[in-house]
Amino acid sequence: MAGRLYGRNLLTLLDFTSEEITYLIDLAAELKELKQQGVPHRRCEGKNVVLIFEKTSTRTRCSFEVGALDLGMGVTYLDPAASQLGKKESIADTARVLGRMYDGIEYRGFGQERVETLAQYAGVPVWNGLTDEFHPTQMLADMLTIREHFGSLDNVKLTFMGDARNNVANSLMVSCAKLGLDYCACAPEELMPEAALVERCREVASQTGSHIELCSDPEQGVADARVVYTDIWVSMGEPAELWEKRIALLEPYRVTSELLDKAAPDAIFLHCLPSFHDTQTDVGAEIYERFGISEMEVTDELFESERSLVFDQAENRMHTIKAVMCATLEA
Ligand code: CP
Ligand code: NVA
Repeated sequence: MAGRLYGRNLLTLLDFTSEEITYLIDLAAELKELKQQGVPHRRCEGKNVVLIFEKTSTRTRCSFEVGALDLGMGVTYLDPAASQLGKKESIADTARVLGRMYDGIEYRGFGQERVETLAQYAGVPVWNGLTDEFHPTQMLADMLTIREHFGSLDNVKLTFMGDARNNVANSLMVSCAKLGLDYCACAPEELMPEAALVERCREVASQTGSHIELCSDPEQGVADARVVYTDIWVSMGEPAELWEKRIALLEPYRVTSELLDKAAPDAIFLHCLPSFHDTQTDVGAEIYERFGISEMEVTDELFESERSLVFDQAENRMHTIKAVMCATLEA
């Protein structure tokens, strides 16, 4: 498998086979071990990557930066306002310019078609660092975290609670189908994933032995789940006016310790982060002022509990993103 991913883009995991995804997770585990032992692994020495962020980020940006530096590469960060992209220069032109200077390009932004256009014109690997539709690098970290915790991805059901048609939920459905985990999208009817994506994932699932389920009842949704996952209720790029409606729709889907007790006995809690579990953020404080709720998609008590592996997940973003860059850049 080594070398097979050389030169590839990572736009969505739909484009990758189960074996290729597993290879990336295995490589991440190997690089994590090297890092923990303090063994240098400058496997892409002398190359350079550029990171384009049209939306904000902590984990993804830092993972690409640290990962690239560990691999011996130079890194340029273009913040949401710093480049000509979109305002004075098209994506196609930007791609052709950056492709002449860099060995790889990360893109975080809006529609999936933007990262696809970038990939079409760049001539070097393009990695999707989150679009409105998908968040593939997050998935590798999540699957590594689940595998580390349970020892394997076999016999795992993952239930996503909340806005089940957002980028993270879409990508979880794809990843579970590809890797053979059972997946339940637990959400109100209007926040269910698009039918076409569900159908595509079910086709994949029929080959890996996984089941894709849609369910609107929280207790039914978490039954037998070994992973209960949630994300914020209004994603980046969505209008702030949506908060009122989303809170009304999603309060019954808040993940609490009581709900997790109804899942499998060994169930863990995951969240891609950032999370609104208290009022320590500007948005959290504003929501408290306006609607009187101090925690949103997860209770603070569960977030801080031993069943929550969210910071292992966050760390694994770096090891897995490093694996993606290494696999696609190392000949
Ligand atoms: N989970 C995630 O993508 O975090 P950032 O938005 O901080 O990159
Ligand atoms: N759904 C969230 C994920 C953040 C990592 C968003 O797009 O804002």
